[in-house]
Amino acid sequence: MSVCLKGRSFLTLRDYTAEEIEYLVDLAIDLKDKKRRGIFEKNMANKNVALIFEKPSTRTRCSFTIGAVDEGAHPEYLGRDDIQFGHKETTEDTARVLGRMFDGIEFRGFSQKTVETLAKYSGVPVWNGLTDEDHPTQILADFMTIKEHFGYLKGIKLVFIGDGRNNMANAMMIGCSKMGLDFVIASPESLRPEDKLTKECEAYAAESGGTIFMTADPIEAVKDADVIYTDVWISMGEEESAKDRVELLRPYQVNKALMEATGKETTKFMHCLPAVRDYEVTNEVIEGPQSIVFDEAENRMHTIKAVMVATIGK
Ligand code: CP
Ligand code: NVA
Repeated sequence: MSVCLKGRSFLTLRDYTAEEIEYLVDLAIDLKDKKRRGIFEKNMANKNVALIFEKPSTRTRCSFTIGAVDEGAHPEYLGRDDIQFGHKETTEDTARVLGRMFDGIEFRGFSQKTVETLAKYSGVPVWNGLTDEDHPTQILADFMTIKEHFGYLKGIKLVFIGDGRNNMANAMMIGCSKMGLDFVIASPESLRPEDKLTKECEAYAAESGGTIFMTADPIEAVKDADVIYTDVWISMGEEESAKDRVELLRPYQVNKALMEATGKETTKFMHCLPAVRDYEVTNEVIEGPQSIVFDEAENRMHTIKAVMVATIGK
């Protein structure tokens, strides 16, 4: 069966089948190979894409910008103080105006509802570049990186350690359960995903052959892990409200002892970045031979390019 994603928004992996996710990962692998060989097919020639950022970004912003330019499109960066949106214009009106001018819209910000409203009213594909709840383009890059290093996704044991209720933990649980990975969260009980999302993901896992397991014990969690994944303890927008989380999460730091507790020398360390060194991960681990964080970072660009090409490209 062939996959066609033309005209689709990319708001969460919940909306995508395993086959569609695999298609995007494989398209990114192909685009990466073509770029290395100097082949630029300009699949988005004459297209214009709007990049709305309510929160800061290095990787996501640069990935959309370079991905668009490589494929012949014009990217327009719209920061939080550059446009009327977020000040005196509604999301619905902004969506309708941008939809008249642009072929696709990226949104990074606080509310998942905002990205959904942009998609509903703009009439063009909208891509989620991170919200408080989700970060689906990051998961494509992570799966691409896992596929490059291990050759496959299904059956990989991936342990997410730390703030188990943030956007990355949610997005990873959705992605892993869709694709048949064995997904583990190691976090304090107070920092687990919402029950409603967990139940939804358990249903995806039942279909894909994946598993979901949660524990407060990081040593138990990492046994036999293929991938140990962590993220910042305090996400963007939580700087004032979550100061006490640092002490709560100290036992969940990824350090040499935890990497050794997997019992495998082949375990990889992953992090979406930006990282706060010597908080969620020691400098030794992120700089060590098991770390593949910069492959991951590069793959943000190839996967985001794939999402744009698949949804608005020729
Ligand atoms: N991983 C990620 O989304 O990085 P940025 O915040 O730099 O975009
Ligand atoms: N959880 C992090 C992810 C950054 C890519 C944040 O939202 O700040």
